[in-house]
Amino acid sequence: MTNTKSSNTVWHHATVTRADRENLHQHKSVIIWFTGLSGSGKSTLAHAVEDQLHKRGISTFVLDGDNVRHGLCSDLTFSDHDRVENIRRIGEVAKLIIESGVITLTAFISPFKSDRNAARNLVPHGEFLEIYCQCPIETCEQRDVKGLYKKARAGQIPFFTGIDSPYEAPENPELSVNTKEQTLEESVQAVIDLLISRGIIKDAPSAPLP
Ligand code: ADX
Repeated sequence: MTNTKSSNTVWHHATVTRADRENLHQHKSVIIWFTGLSGSGKSTLAHAVEDQLHKRGISTFVLDGDNVRHGLCSDLTFSDHDRVENIRRIGEVAKLIIESGVITLTAFISPFKSDRNAARNLVPHGEFLEIYCQCPIETCEQRDVKGLYKKARAGQIPFFTGIDSPYEAPENPELSVNTKEQTLEESVQAVIDLLISRGIIKDAPSAPLP
């Protein structure tokens, strides 16, 4: 394998393949990568999409920025260097999860284009769907659900995205949702429609489980 510090590891090929698992799940697995400012609605949308997919009998898992930073990435700060590492880890974890046949939804600011592209390039073409949660910073700041913008403006949180740390908007995302103008239901539907149009899930919801 590439990029490993040890030359003494050998890749073990599973006998049950990803295709077998996708067949069992009756849908394909992809990474749905939500990106946007803090407060733009990434987590809300990712969880609402997961809810809809789950009701259709689809296997899903959400990786959420704030949660992951309590565990896997608890050693990382919000410096540019650590954000790069944060997104690198998430890309690798998401890549592992889609091998299990599960649709993976990630909700991270992921402010740098190069890091999102690196995550995209970890998986075959078409298996990384970038969803831009577009929302003016003024609106995110008004929402200030976690009270962090107020603290950042008061100088209590350095390197806050959109204030003193950059956010590079996607140029060609698979989908853009405007979370200021669209309702949550409209945004969820847009993501579901994308999955159907790409042949990742079937049009009709699956029958409920017994
Ligand atoms: S990322 O830039 O590395 O992708 P991530 O999505 O994991 O960020 O974490 C963002 C969340 O951490 C925000 O929603 C916010 O709640 C919190 N946070 C704490 N400090 C900062 C900061 N300096 N900049 C942005 N978000 C911060």
